[in-house]
Amino acid sequence: MNYAMMIKEYREKTLISQQDLADLLGVAFVSVNRWENGHYEPTYKAKRKLRELFIKAGMKSEDYTDESGAMDVKDCKINNRRYLGNKYKLLSFIKDTVNEHCENVNSIADIFSGTGSVSSAFWNLQIITNDILYSNYISNVAWFSPETVDKTKLKRIIAGYNNYSKVENNYMTKNFSDTYFSKEDCSKIGYIREDIEKNYKKKIVNERERAVLITSLLYAMDHIAKTCGHYDAFIRNATFNEHLELCYPDVPNDNNQNNRCFNMDSNELVRNITADLVYIDPPYNSRQYCDAYHLLENVARWNKPEVEGVARKMDRKSLKSKYCTNSASKAFEDLIEHIHARYILLSYNNMAKKGNDRSNAKISDEDIMQILEAKGQVMVFSKDYKAFTTGQSDIEGNEERLFLCICRGDENND
Ligand SMILES: C[S@@+](CC[C@H](N)C(=O)[O-])C[C@H]1O[C@@H](n2cnc3c(N)ncnc32)[C@H](O)[C@@H]1O
Repeated sequence: MNYAMMIKEYREKTLISQQDLADLLGVAFVSVNRWENGHYEPTYKAKRKLRELFIKAGMKSEDYTDESGAMDVKDCKINNRRYLGNKYKLLSFIKDTVNEHCENVNSIADIFSGTGSVSSAFWNLQIITNDILYSNYISNVAWFSPETVDKTKLKRIIAGYNNYSKVENNYMTKNFSDTYFSKEDCSKIGYIREDIEKNYKKKIVNERERAVLITSLLYAMDHIAKTCGHYDAFIRNATFNEHLELCYPDVPNDNNQNNRCFNMDSNELVRNITADLVYIDPPYNSRQYCDAYHLLENVARWNKPEVEGVARKMDRKSLKSKYCTNSASKAFEDLIEHIHARYILLSYNNMAKKGNDRSNAKISDEDIMQILEAKGQVMVFSKDYKAFTTGQSDIEGNEERLFLCICRGDENND
């Protein structure tokens, strides 16, 4: 529905000013002005009220045939979330490197896949994704699994979630009220996550549809959480001025039938898969992803564990990555040795000793080169890139590097 046109038509028909309409909706004049000019879309709540007003005024629109509100559910894309070290801005660099230097690549394994952004640059190929975090695995299933999803059904379910306003006591309100989210939003998150599981058990949604709904919830949480993008801490005494609104992850229905998503340690996985190109983007410093994203992981898993400390973290022992520790080089050596591929592409930036201790890279350039050269011929490509540190400082001379290894055709790589 074109809300800009409909608002104008409504005001002309009912002879009211933008200020009158703003009062009716309980919003500021400037909001109505921006909606009518087409600069912004009304919020989900405002759209619901507007539709009621349009209907009362006898205005006709074919969109009204869907009472569920599904038409108001916005679509979202794979990169509509915050994630430390995501490579979305480097996709053309990565793609160009592959196109210029690799031949006959029909399958790619993105074995530290995170958000899946790098896989999304290779949508036309067979894709294997893997991440140690279940929350990332779930998003990867949503975006890359070959199973078919029913978009209309999912949009209706999401519209129902967006409309839900009852406040209840549940796992989320008990443990997270007024921390990262308001009590009301915690209640809604808990209700929605429980309902997704019920719908899956009743076979109302299939496995990928379940993943799409959980992904939709995780993206919505990420959008409003009172954090600086990760969950090591929440912003104290924050005003919760934005409320949970789920979008529809606009997932394709024509993914390659051989795509596979895994949720395991990459060192174990590589022993059992083959791909033309294996892309490696491990954590490069001591920041553990399970610490930064414990809350999204908790909601994705939904085992409702005990949480502790100010940041309300669950037990994360089994999710810790060796790549954030002093045994990173050893883990990397083992990984490379057991990869079955013609090409290996590694992202690793050059923070070796430039940031503070926590942001220093765990694997030295010497180790990287020595380990990769034992596997094949190595080329290095680089691009300037702003570093993220918790202190928000820019670090001089920081660059993202891609190490391309053309693997020797020994028995491991066949
Ligand atoms: C730098 S991020 C990847 C970002 C990703 N390329 C993107 O664009 O979103 C590193 C990822 O590796 C995952 N990870 C860390 N150790 C792992 C391991 N041993 N096996 C599998 N995944 C691991 C983390 O959970 C994190 O999502």
